[in-house]
Amino acid sequence: MGKILCLSLLLVLQTLDVVNAVKCFGSSFNVNSSYAQNRQKLFPTLADKVVTNHGFYNASLGQSPDRVYALVICARGYDKDACYNCVQSLTQNTQTDCRSRMDSFIWGGNDDVTCLVRSSNQSTFGNLQLKPPVVWPSPDTIESSKNLTLFEQQWEEMVNRTLEAATKAETSSVLKYYSAEKAGFTEFPDVYMLMQCTPDITSRDCKQCLEDSVMYFRKDYMGRKGGMASLPSCYFRWDLYSFHNAFDNVTRVPAPPPRPRSQEKQSCITEKKGKSIGYGGIIAIIVVLTFINLLVFIGFIKVYARRGKLNNVGSAEYSDSDGQFMLRFDLGMILMATDDFSSENTLGQGGFGTVYKGTFSNGQEVAVKRLTKGSGQGDLEFKNEVSLLTRLQHRNLVKLLGFCNEGDEEILVYEFVPNSSLDHFIFGEPSKTAANLDIFRTFSKIKCYFELCR
Ligand SMILES: *[C@@H]1O[C@H](CO)[C@@H](O)[C@H](O)[C@H]1NC(C)=O
Ligand SMILES: *[C@@H]1O[C@H](CO)[C@@H](O)[C@H](O)[C@H]1NC(C)=O
Ligand SMILES: *[C@@H]1O[C@H](CO)[C@@H](O)[C@H](O)[C@H]1NC(C)=O
Ligand SMILES: *[C@@H]1O[C@H](CO)[C@@H](O)[C@H](O)[C@H]1NC(C)=O
Ligand SMILES: *[C@@H]1O[C@H](CO)[C@@H](O)[C@H](O)[C@H]1NC(C)=O
Ligand SMILES: *[C@@H]1O[C@H](CO)[C@@H](O)[C@H](O)[C@H]1NC(C)=O
Repeated sequence: MGKILCLSLLLVLQTLDVVNAVKCFGSSFNVNSSYAQNRQKLFPTLADKVVTNHGFYNASLGQSPDRVYALVICARGYDKDACYNCVQSLTQNTQTDCRSRMDSFIWGGNDDVTCLVRSSNQSTFGNLQLKPPVVWPSPDTIESSKNLTLFEQQWEEMVNRTLEAATKAETSSVLKYYSAEKAGFTEFPDVYMLMQCTPDITSRDCKQCLEDSVMYFRKDYMGRKGGMASLPSCYFRWDLYSFHNAFDNVTRVPAPPPRPRSQEKQSCITEKKGKSIGYGGIIAIIVVLTFINLLVFIGFIKVYARRGKLNNVGSAEYSDSDGQFMLRFDLGMILMATDDFSSENTLGQGGFGTVYKGTFSNGQEVAVKRLTKGSGQGDLEFKNEVSLLTRLQHRNLVKLLGFCNEGDEEILVYEFVPNSSLDHFIFGEPSKTAANLDIFRTFSKIKCYFELCR
């Protein structure tokens, strides 16, 4: 039991996932227009209002055609502070990532709650909105040793159960379309699934919306170890670990009983019956299990000791503004990959920080650049710059896979290139990296995190 708990906690630390992805669409507006001003006035009021209005709020501000409509929702059972913080951070995300588009939506959340912030130049209240979709799969694929047919069958059953519970809506509450389910699968100890619709649509529309989101995931990403698909009217997410604190009160549906299949199992049963394992066997098993437990425990303690007060457990982020992914890596993952930034993994050192070689649990090798502390950058600036860098991908550049900014750590994660080209890029040898330099000069506004910019 303890081992399973530890393993699933480790899974949380190691898994990349999406938290927040703003989708921007509709027509453009000038950043100095009255539409922009109205949005700037309306947005900061939303977090307070949604809490005083029991988790759902819609509002508008200004004169047509510059009137801004907003719709905000938190998940059922929300904690007030968590809801406030969630909406506050998603409105900020919208304003930075969606600077000049009238329509936007973002279903996201933090460790404590799920929430939605939606805006438009026209009232969308009561309208089912099935476009555009935002789909995000877990980067991890289910191992081929698992029975995918069996998994898919149980997954579809869980989708049906969750969908039915979410659309039943026997309550008149504004948070009526919501369901969080937890189930054991034959292939996985626990699977978590969450569905939610905005309350302004009918139960039938909610069903259609959720079916569409499931379809978007199933179509392209069946076989991944989790994912999210959202539309302006609804949200669907599932994972192999608990997220958004949505599953504390949920009763777990146990896995269907396994059918005895293999020879191995049968011989095991015979052995049990005949009590033929013997003390030696039992002791060996206990020793092995204890050893595994100990290893897992040590790894866990190490990660936590490093993490200290950092609270943003196991999350990653991506931005869809330009169709580019921007992953936020969990600090725990990076510590694990680089063995706590061990000096053995050092690839090199420069004025802006030290570069380590890292290996993620899935075997992927990366180069991790840990920026020197005290660069004076705010959280937001750091993220914006990473976002810019992500868009500057070029065949001569080493690919930036993502970043991590937890506590006072600012870390960039690159694809690992075994040969010397990586050194040239990251440590800078300007004469040999003319291409890189040109690109960076073109975007001279980017503050240089790279030695070669100097
Ligand atoms: C809102 O923007 C859409 C285009 O995205 C436009 O067709 C529509 O007329 C606008 N509505 C108002 C009320 O300005
Ligand atoms: C917005 O207004 C400021 C000053 O009022 C001006 O400098 C800036 O160029 C304007 N931006 C746009 C996009 O019009
Ligand atoms: C939301 O907006 C619609 C129209 O814009 C309005 O009729 C409705 O009363 C509002 N609902 C809430 C809960 O504020
Ligand atoms: C879980 O149950 C407790 C007590 O019944 C309640 O206060 C809390 O809001 C529930 N949490 C969720 C996420 O539903
Ligand atoms: C996978 O599961 C399906 C459905 O239970 C079963 O029919 C099939 O034989 C299994 N395949 C393997 C390789 O075990
Ligand atoms: C899920 O529901 C759909 C439609 O209601 C049905 O066609 C499908 O067979 C169900 N799938 C499972 C696995 O129960």
